[in-house]
Amino acid sequence: MPAREVLAGLDIGTTKIACLVAEIESGQPPKISGIGIHPSEGLRKGVVVNLEKTTNSVIKAVEDAELMSGTKIDSVFCGIAGDHIKSINSRGVIALSKAEDEINSFDVEKVIEAAKALAIPQDREIIHVLPQEFCVDDQSGIKDPVGMSGVRLEAEVHIVTGAVTSAQNIYKSVRRAGLEIKELVLESLASSYALLYPEEGELGVVLIDLGGGTTDIAIFYEGSIRHTAVIGLGGKNVTNDIAFGLKTPTDYAEELKKNYGCAFVRSVDADEMIEVPGVGGREPRELSRSVLASIIEPRVEEILEFCLREVKRGECFEDLTSGVVLTGGGSLMEGVVELAEKVFDMPARVGRPKGITGLTEQASSPIHSTGVGLILYGQKHKKELNQKEGGKFKKIFKYLKSCFSEYF
Ligand SMILES: Nc1ncnc2c1ncn2[C@@H]1O[C@H](COP(=O)(O)OP(=O)(O)OP(=O)(O)O)[C@@H](O)[C@H]1O
Ligand SMILES: [Mg+2]
Repeated sequence: MPAREVLAGLDIGTTKIACLVAEIESGQPPKISGIGIHPSEGLRKGVVVNLEKTTNSVIKAVEDAELMSGTKIDSVFCGIAGDHIKSINSRGVIALSKAEDEINSFDVEKVIEAAKALAIPQDREIIHVLPQEFCVDDQSGIKDPVGMSGVRLEAEVHIVTGAVTSAQNIYKSVRRAGLEIKELVLESLASSYALLYPEEGELGVVLIDLGGGTTDIAIFYEGSIRHTAVIGLGGKNVTNDIAFGLKTPTDYAEELKKNYGCAFVRSVDADEMIEVPGVGGREPRELSRSVLASIIEPRVEEILEFCLREVKRGECFEDLTSGVVLTGGGSLMEGVVELAEKVFDMPARVGRPKGITGLTEQASSPIHSTGVGLILYGQKHKKELNQKEGGKFKKIFKYLKSCFSEYF
């Protein structure tokens, strides 16, 4: 019988904390068996600012997911975002001992280590080192050099770093909730596992997650990640603009945005009227929906223009043939696809999580792209993680054996 295990993804977002549980059976898509969501109160712009509130929300989201799935969650793949995230491309080279010997996984590990040897400020830590391609002697564009022969191995990698304190605060709040973090994963990287078709990643695509507090960008080209960035603006800014513009409390503004919001004024019928709830006993009033859209459009356009600026900083802007994939809660807004097509002058679509079974109706909302992506990332990388951990134990065991060898 195939081995069955349980994997959990924890998306610590600015507006919600979501825990997704899935049953994993080898060769099968993950079966989502539990989803717990709780409003997030301890975060600002994707960064934990209140440990206690975050821990409490994590506990509640995890409890709900456990109850729904009937499984106990001990460890999670956990997302990280926030505008402290920075990324760079780097290159490492090693000489191979004998040309006739085949390149093995240790050589690959060594060349990636060499590419990692950068001066990283003390207050930052490496979150990911993502190989883009390898070069053996003069042959470039190699995805997996294991088994090839050569005298020189080169690796091009994408390095994602984050503020040590921000990562530690995520670790702390999750540990205080009684959970172990198997791996911290950049949220946009996780989402890409749930949204992108392989051919999109090959041809060139930009993934934009319009969240509540942050907008995350990831560019893929020729099957590898090329650029990542996090912008400290999101749906909350849109809501605040509505509250300010219509002089209405934030809660009402949020409801108006979700129910009637549109990010593309041109597609709204000028005669369409909506009702704005009265505040403090006042009568509700009527408002043209295009007025609401004219508050929303400039802010969403500003966010998308920041994204465009970031995308242009990456090297492959001209090559992004597959255009833009929008996800996160903000992608549920009417007119956002049209606006993105105008700003980027490229085709755009909304990305919904795919490649899962089970509770698909709930899990395929764009607000769960990160949560589902964390599970798919976990499924793909758990073997490496176990090997790494196994390797770590082997090294410790070897070290201990060498220490005690004189006594045995
Ligand atoms: N139907 C909708 N129309 C417009 N906006 C929406 C809609 N539904 C949700 N949103 C907005 O999406 C945002 C929440 O999205 P999401 O759940 O992806 O964010 P998050 O993961 O909590 O935050 P972040 O990723 O920034 O840390 C909120 O600002 C919310 O107002
Ligand atoms: Mg999010």
